[in-house]
Amino acid sequence: MPYTVTARVPTPEEHRFLAEAVGWGDAFWWEAMPASLAGSTCGVVVHDDGLIGMGRVVGDGAFYFYIEDVAVHPDHRARGIGRAIVESLVRQVRDLAPGHHFVGLFATPEAEALYRSLGWEAKEMLGMWQVLRD
Ligand SMILES: CC(C)(COP(=O)(O)OP(=O)(O)OC[C@H]1O[C@@H](n2cnc3c(N)ncnc32)[C@H](O)[C@@H]1OP(=O)(O)O)[C@@H](O)C(=O)NCCC(=O)NCCS
Repeated sequence: MPYTVTARVPTPEEHRFLAEAVGWGDAFWWEAMPASLAGSTCGVVVHDDGLIGMGRVVGDGAFYFYIEDVAVHPDHRARGIGRAIVESLVRQVRDLAPGHHFVGLFATPEAEALYRSLGWEAKEMLGMWQVLRD
């Protein structure tokens, strides 16, 4: 079945469904996700029979943009959906803000080839993060 790509931010329920489907069940603080998703700059959901993919962008809406939460349901991989999600997010960023943009992301090992093929590079900097807990 052909899939449809829709430019909108996933709902908290959609986000949790796909996050758990790809093994990110412990990666989020679920109580924060409604506000986190509402703060997104833009997003993408992909459907065929049901929801099979998502992605979103956060940032300042003008120059700094970060791609987050790109996920394709394991039953629907290698159909070009991941690529379609990222391409849609990039198009939306270009439409939102004129001129040059910084578009950053953290790539999982399985997504590295996809991002490299679309122009991302690790360059000389090391991505770093920590999760602050109570
Ligand atoms: C990474 C992910 C989004 C790719 O989704 P997908 O729909 O299977 O990707 P696509 O079908 O669009 O494939 C994109 C490219 O990546 C390659 N690719 C896809 N999965 C791959 C894998 N496991 N290992 C190596 N390359 C892979 C494909 O060959 C394809 O290259 P091509 O277009 O030159 O043929 C998906 O595997 C996923 O959701 N993984 C779990 C969550 C995750 O890691 N998200 C990324 C967060 S940064």
